[in-house]
Amino acid sequence: MAKITLSIIKADIGSIGGHIKPSQKLLETVSNYIKEKGRGLIIDSYIGHTGDDIAILTTHKKGPSNPKIHKLCWDAFLAGTKIAKSQGLYGAGQDLLVSAFSGNVKGMGPQVAEMEIEERPAEPFLMFMADKTEPGAFNLPLYLAFTDPMHNAGLILSPKVKEGFKFVIMDVSYTKVDKIIELKAPEEIYDIAALLRDTGRFVVESIFSRASGEQVVSASTTRLHNIAGKYVGKDDPVMLVRTQKDFPATGEILSPYTITPLVAGFMRGSHNSPLMPVKKNTSISFFDGPAIVSCLAFCEKEGKLTESADTFDHPYWDYVREQAAQETQELRRQGFFGADMLPMSELEYTGVMETLKELEKRFKIRKK
Ligand code: F6R
Ligand code: MG
Ligand code: MG
Repeated sequence: MAKITLSIIKADIGSIGGHIKPSQKLLETVSNYIKEKGRGLIIDSYIGHTGDDIAILTTHKKGPSNPKIHKLCWDAFLAGTKIAKSQGLYGAGQDLLVSAFSGNVKGMGPQVAEMEIEERPAEPFLMFMADKTEPGAFNLPLYLAFTDPMHNAGLILSPKVKEGFKFVIMDVSYTKVDKIIELKAPEEIYDIAALLRDTGRFVVESIFSRASGEQVVSASTTRLHNIAGKYVGKDDPVMLVRTQKDFPATGEILSPYTITPLVAGFMRGSHNSPLMPVKKNTSISFFDGPAIVSCLAFCEKEGKLTESADTFDHPYWDYVREQAAQETQELRRQGFFGADMLPMSELEYTGVMETLKELEKRFKIRKK
């Protein structure tokens, strides 16, 4: 059986009209670069966008964190940035935080999700891309899809699925090296929940089947402001999920997106919004949001990809989108107040801090 690596590398390198979507020419530039320069290195590729982010999916046999694969994508983003600058796109090269490539794009700005798999006779998998949000946005959908029979009927009906899953969770506030914990579902689901509720700090990095030991999920964990030390846009995560047979079914993985979890990253990376499931190549609009997630389904054979099936392009999800829009309105009615705007620690602009510093000088202690 062939060992194949699936790699998603994604970045915001410039957008039309604000933070809306990349230009056609930008997408074509990245796509052509991968096709031309990836010859002999990769087996297949798919390039698409969600909001203002361009994601490159490649299949190859080089394993995760391969410098050649990472450099190919980095250079494709550099080529794209040149075009973005020439077109006057907004935020050209925004996510390319360092000037020289150093072997691995992790920690350089782009989001990365990779997985080496022992190919099954049929290999269905999902490519998730989110915009105007952070890696913790996948926490609740993953928790529900892998631990809760209300979403995953396989936990009751399939003996292999019932054996449960191992969650690898990262503390993303620790930036020196990776700090991770492994927890087992179902025995430790309350501990898993205790961590995953804190979406800004604890993020699911990967999930493994306990029946076979195989990897099922790989999600990106980079938090840009932890790298850059200042606001440079939200992190807009990507994720790979293998499905069916001894893993959750595609529909079980999708099921939790019905509840449109509240996530951080709306307007100026500083507000909460429901996570709206959208069709592929959807742009951003109202109040620079709301947070969106797309999900493309593929099958692959020896690295050759099928065309994508757009999982959220279905009448059922129109209804969910409408619900998400209503929830967004309810939240927006609160404006800057309460749960609408993020807490101080998560605000992506420093303006409030400066205002508070100035106002502090004007506070007086009243004499009794
Ligand atoms: C960017 C984002 C937007 C921007 C906003 C202001 O991903 O979420 O909401 O933060 O459009 O952008 P600047 O400060 O770049 O004009
Ligand atoms: Mg952006
Ligand atoms: Mg983005």
